[in-house]
Amino acid sequence: MGGVYILMGVSGVGKTSVGKELAVTLGLPFFDADDFHPQRNKEKMAAGIPLNDTDRWPWLDTLAQHVKDWSDSGAVLACSALKEVYRERLCAVRPAGTNVTFVYLQATFDLIRARLSNRKDHFFNPTLLQSQFDTLEPPKNALQVDGHQSQQQIIDYILLELKSTSQLGLIGLGVMGKSLARNFAGKGIQLSLYNRRVSGKEEDVATRFITEYPVLSIAQGFEDLAAFVQSLERPRSIFLMVHAGAATDIVISALHPHLDVGDVLMDGGNAHYQDTERRIGELSKRGIHFMGVGVSGGEEGALYGPSIMPGGAFEIYDQVQPLLEIIAAKDAHGKPCCAHIGIGGAGHFVKMIHNGIEYAEMQLITEVYGLMRFYLGMELPAIANQFDTWNAGPLQSYLLEISAKILRKKDGDHSVIDLILDKAQQKGTGGWSTTAALTLGQPFDTIASAVMVRNLSAQKMTRIEAQIAYAFPTNTYDYTLGLEDIKQAYSAARMINHAIGIETIKAASITYGWNINLSELARVWTNGCIIRSQLMEAFIDWLKVDATSHILLHVDAVQLLSDTNDAFAKTISESALLKAAIPTLSAAFNYFNGFVTGDSATHLIQAQRDFFGAHTYERKDKEGNFHTQWE
Ligand code: 6PG
Repeated sequence: MGGVYILMGVSGVGKTSVGKELAVTLGLPFFDADDFHPQRNKEKMAAGIPLNDTDRWPWLDTLAQHVKDWSDSGAVLACSALKEVYRERLCAVRPAGTNVTFVYLQATFDLIRARLSNRKDHFFNPTLLQSQFDTLEPPKNALQVDGHQSQQQIIDYILLELKSTSQLGLIGLGVMGKSLARNFAGKGIQLSLYNRRVSGKEEDVATRFITEYPVLSIAQGFEDLAAFVQSLERPRSIFLMVHAGAATDIVISALHPHLDVGDVLMDGGNAHYQDTERRIGELSKRGIHFMGVGVSGGEEGALYGPSIMPGGAFEIYDQVQPLLEIIAAKDAHGKPCCAHIGIGGAGHFVKMIHNGIEYAEMQLITEVYGLMRFYLGMELPAIANQFDTWNAGPLQSYLLEISAKILRKKDGDHSVIDLILDKAQQKGTGGWSTTAALTLGQPFDTIASAVMVRNLSAQKMTRIEAQIAYAFPTNTYDYTLGLEDIKQAYSAARMINHAIGIETIKAASITYGWNINLSELARVWTNGCIIRSQLMEAFIDWLKVDATSHILLHVDAVQLLSDTNDAFAKTISESALLKAAIPTLSAAFNYFNGFVTGDSATHLIQAQRDFFGAHTYERKDKEGNFHTQWE
């Protein structure tokens, strides 16, 4: 659990014992600020000489560094923190958005003096107590706790108070919702969690989940939407993690009557960007803000740091930015992989294209695996080793990395991969991205082909029947295809696939007025998300220098695609003669051949259109639209 809880108050008030108990309850480590005093301060105190500000600065600076280090994983610290400037100093270097909660334990001079006189083996001299009271500036922004109560009462009170207003509400405790909730709570965000009740199926989901993880001990669970909404700080920030489509609309309608002007709803699901734009419009009529927040990284990413792509009005983003940045993955420079993408549905649009790129990358890896395994006759461990070797160089990517792990995975004597049916499923984002590209008039070859592969793969029975019906004899083509050819073909195709995705975002950004910063988007995609890779790191600079020209015109892309061109062609032609299905490699290859052909055969299409429909055509030799009387 993240966030730092600082138990403060004069010496002897019970900070240490309450802090230790609170730490156990919250599942956090406990630290005593006294242990961080320089020896000089300890000696001074033991000699009954009160510390002055000069004595305290180095001590507070050391503690501030620790507060910063603990902010991610969380900690409970007992520290007198008597003056406002000391408290400010303690928080001086923590990352923005980190929660530091001061809990002020109060008690009377007489009670504490009585307690201290009973203490043994402590370097603190009771005669210093008066100086502590003289120095004390009671905090305004702290949880005020009556230190005269029993320890249990104090702990119960603190927990209750910490729970009383939540910074963030999260709706939907499926796999992703639960992981995000643990991530938020782990960063010290006070949460209210809601999950619907479905008798016999989903009962007490939120409360049971909270008891399962100590990190959630100050979270509140609900099955009643009104109570859930009431438990949130205003203006409210609510994160939706429900199924895209109708389910999201149902939840929004149910929430609607309980919300107030200024509240912000963030949809973290894989929603269609046009649904997001519709919801923004509908909710804005009541002054409620809606943001489409792309979240990538799967279950593990959600838990340890996803890549986050928020879209929606800039003005509202300020309210939720710290919450989103605190849970995001960090880039190579420690910056959150989270950035405002653009207004309207921009966040969900780029997430959708991310998934399109993901589909085609998965398919490309699948095709090179298929070639190596079923045509070059390589064993699984050898292919996994090959992927590892590629992964150690510029081809490094998360998807390649997991593919090597998958190929090594055993279930008893079997390789798990061989137990898996070859029917690829999909939830729709690849298809949506293809439709969106078509609407924008963008070439989308690799991604569209990867979607078609999944569609064909689903027709398992028909494929089996076809194999029997055609009964082709074993192919005896004497291939010359080698591993280096395949590697170069993959390297070229993945470059082309990324370019196709990014160019589509560029076109959408212009058409829809989103003004997307592509370099920043590449940075957001360098960690936490499924398509993170070394190539993405390179794109940050490429797109910073020139975000206008086609990405395949970048000098490094030109170099790579020139160097790999022969091996790419050989891989495609040899695969054709081997009769191997490589739709996405081929799509990339054909796209590229078209891309580098300044003068193509497409003029015939124009002529045909004009022939049968008088659609007219443009000419090379003069301006205007022309029609020919063809017969
Ligand atoms: C991510 C993924 C994720 C997606 C799955 C499954 O970025 O974390 O893209 O959002 O839902 O990859 O998608 P399909 O079921 O369509 O393959």
